[in-house]
Amino acid sequence: MASQVLLMLGLAAVGQAAKGVKNNDPVCRGSETAPEQLHFNYAGDRGMTVSWNTASKLQSPAVRYGRGSQLDKIAYSDVSVTYPTSTTYSNHVFIDGLEPDTEYTFSVLCAEENDHYRFKTSLPAGNPRPYTFAYIADLGTMGSLGLSDYGQSDALSPGEITTMQSLRDFKDEFEFMWHNGDLAYADDWLKEEQDGFLPNTTIEGGAAVYEAILNAFYNEMAGNVTMERPYMVGPGNHEANCDDGGSGDYTESICVQGQTNFTGFRNHFRMPSAQSGGLENFWYSWDYGLVHYIQINTETDFLGAPDLPGGSADENAGPFAPNGTQIEWLRKDLASVDRKKTPWIIVAGHRPWYVDDAQCDTCQAAFEPLFLEYGVDIALFGHKHFYERLSAIANNNPDPRGLDNPSAPWYIVNGAAGHYEGLSSYDTPVANYTVKAIDTVYGWSRFTVHNCTHISQDFIASGNGSVIDSATLYKKHDGCKF
Ligand SMILES: *[C@@H]1O[C@H](CO)[C@@H](O)[C@H](O)[C@H]1NC(C)=O
Ligand SMILES: *[C@@H]1O[C@H](CO)[C@@H](O)[C@H](O)[C@H]1NC(C)=O
Ligand SMILES: *[C@@H]1O[C@H](CO)[C@@H](O)[C@H](O)[C@H]1NC(C)=O
Ligand SMILES: *[C@@H]1O[C@H](CO)[C@@H](O)[C@H](O)[C@H]1NC(C)=O
Ligand SMILES: *[C@@H]1O[C@H](CO)[C@@H](O)[C@H](O)[C@H]1NC(C)=O
Ligand SMILES: *[C@@H]1O[C@H](CO)[C@@H](O)[C@H](O)[C@H]1NC(C)=O
Ligand SMILES: *[C@@H]1O[C@H](CO)[C@@H](O)[C@H](O)[C@H]1NC(C)=O
Ligand SMILES: [Fe+2]
Repeated sequence: MASQVLLMLGLAAVGQAAKGVKNNDPVCRGSETAPEQLHFNYAGDRGMTVSWNTASKLQSPAVRYGRGSQLDKIAYSDVSVTYPTSTTYSNHVFIDGLEPDTEYTFSVLCAEENDHYRFKTSLPAGNPRPYTFAYIADLGTMGSLGLSDYGQSDALSPGEITTMQSLRDFKDEFEFMWHNGDLAYADDWLKEEQDGFLPNTTIEGGAAVYEAILNAFYNEMAGNVTMERPYMVGPGNHEANCDDGGSGDYTESICVQGQTNFTGFRNHFRMPSAQSGGLENFWYSWDYGLVHYIQINTETDFLGAPDLPGGSADENAGPFAPNGTQIEWLRKDLASVDRKKTPWIIVAGHRPWYVDDAQCDTCQAAFEPLFLEYGVDIALFGHKHFYERLSAIANNNPDPRGLDNPSAPWYIVNGAAGHYEGLSSYDTPVANYTVKAIDTVYGWSRFTVHNCTHISQDFIASGNGSVIDSATLYKKHDGCKF
C-alpha cells in the first residue's frame, strides 16, 4: 500500500517535471533521475554548459531556460556518462546562442517544478567593465569524509566557516570561480582509512569511499556556490588516481578501473576546450572582459610531466594527446590573443615552479619560456597547501620593477583552500622572489580586474572573511584605450 502511494506521488511529480522540460517524456523516475551536483561553466562567447548528476542514465539530458521567468527555450544533449565504480551519471548540456553578459533563468530535466536557477553569461572580450573572480586550489570535501573539526592536523575549529561557505558568503561580489586543480581529494580515502579517521572502512571497501567523497564534495559545492556561479576547473594530481600515488604498503596497483587516469574528472566536467582548440578539461582558454584566461595541465602531457607513467609523482596517468600537443596549443593560443581586446593574460597551472618548497622544474622548463615570450601578466598555481605571493619573476630572478609595470609574469601560489590533509609549511628562509607567505590560514584569492592597467589580488581568510594580504599589479599595456 505504502509503495503504491509512493508510486503515485512519483508519477505525479514525473508529469509535472516532464511537462516543463520535454513534452510527453515520462523519463523522470523519482530519486533515480533527481538532479544533484549541479554546476555550469562558460563555453564560448555565447555559450554555457550546464552539468548535473543523476543516479540513472538520462537518454536525453535537457535544460529549459529563458531570460525572464518564462523558460521558453530548451537545449538537449545525449551526454550522460559514467565509469566503473561511479554511483552516478554526469549529464552535460551545451547551450549556445545566448546574449552575452546577460542573466538567464534555467531548470534541468527532472528538477522539482519550482527549482529554478540562474546563470549570467560571459562578458564579451574587450568589454572594460571591472569585475571580480574567485580563485581556489586544493579544496576538498568537508565534514566526516574530509576536513572536519576533529581527528586530523589543522582541523577546523567547531563552527569555523569553510572556504566553500566563505565563497557562498561572498558570491554576490564575484562573477565566476576558478578551481586550479585538486578537487575533493577522493584519493585521500586510503590515508583516511590508515589514519583511523574512517575506522569502519576497509581497503576492499575503498572504491566506494572514493566515490562517496567525490559525491559529497560536488554536492557541498553545489549547495554553496556552483549552482549560482560558473565553475571553471583544471587538473591536479589528486584527480590522477585512487590512492594519491600510493601510501604505506599500498601502491597504485590497488586502484580499480574507473579510479585511475583522471577518469572521474574527465566525466564530471566539460570545460570549453572545443571552443578554444584545447583538450577536454586539461587545457583550454576563454575570454572575459579585458582578460584572456588560460588553464594549463602541469600533470601530464609535456616532457618530464610528473604524473606520467614513470614520472616523479608515481601517478601513472596520461598522456592524453600525442607528444607536444599541449605545448604547441599553448604557443598558438598565446600567439593568437588580441591584446587590444584582452590586454591581460592570466594563466593557471596546478604545480608551481616558483615556491618555497619542492618545485616542479620540468613544469618550468616546459612553460616558462612561453610565458616570457608572449608576455603573460599573471601566473597562478596551487598544489602547496599554503599561500605565497611572489614577485614578478623571470628565469629565477625577481623583476627589478616589482609590480610596477614588470616585464615578467606576477606569480601567486594559493593552495590553502582546505581539505583532509590540512595545511603545509613553506620552507625558510624564503627565496629572493617571495614577498609574502602565510601557512596557517585557510583561504581563497579574490581578483579584481579594475581596468586595462590594474588588477588586484586579495587573500581572504575563509574563517572570518578578512583580507589578510593584498597587492595590485600595474601594467602599462600597449594599446590601452581606457
Ligand atoms: C563505527 O562503527 C561503530 C559500530 O557500529 C559505531 O559505533 C561507530 O560510531 C562507527 N564510527 C564511525 C566514525 O562511523
Ligand atoms: C556548504 O558547505 C558545507 C561544508 O563546507 C556543508 O556542510 C554544507 O552542507 C554546504 N551547504 C549546502 C547548502 O550544501
Ligand atoms: C590514460 O588515458 C589516455 C586516454 O584514454 C590513454 O591514452 C593513456 O594511455 C592512459 N594512461 C594510462 C597510464 O593508462
Ligand atoms: C617528445 O618530444 C620531445 C621534443 O620534441 C622529445 O625530446 C621527447 O623525447 C619526446 N618524447 C617522447 C615520449 O616521445
Ligand atoms: C634569486 O634566487 C635564485 C635561486 O632561488 C637564484 O637563482 C637567483 O640568482 C637569485 N637572484 C637574485 C637577483 O638574487
Ligand atoms: C584603473 O584602476 C585603478 C585601480 O582602481 C585606478 O587607480 C586607476 O585610476 C584606473 N585607471 C583608469 C585609467 O581609470
Ligand atoms: C581573521 O582571521 C585571520 C586568520 O586567522 C586573522 O589573522 C585575523 O586577525 C582575523 N581578523 C579579524 C578581524 O578577526
Ligand atoms: Fe596537488
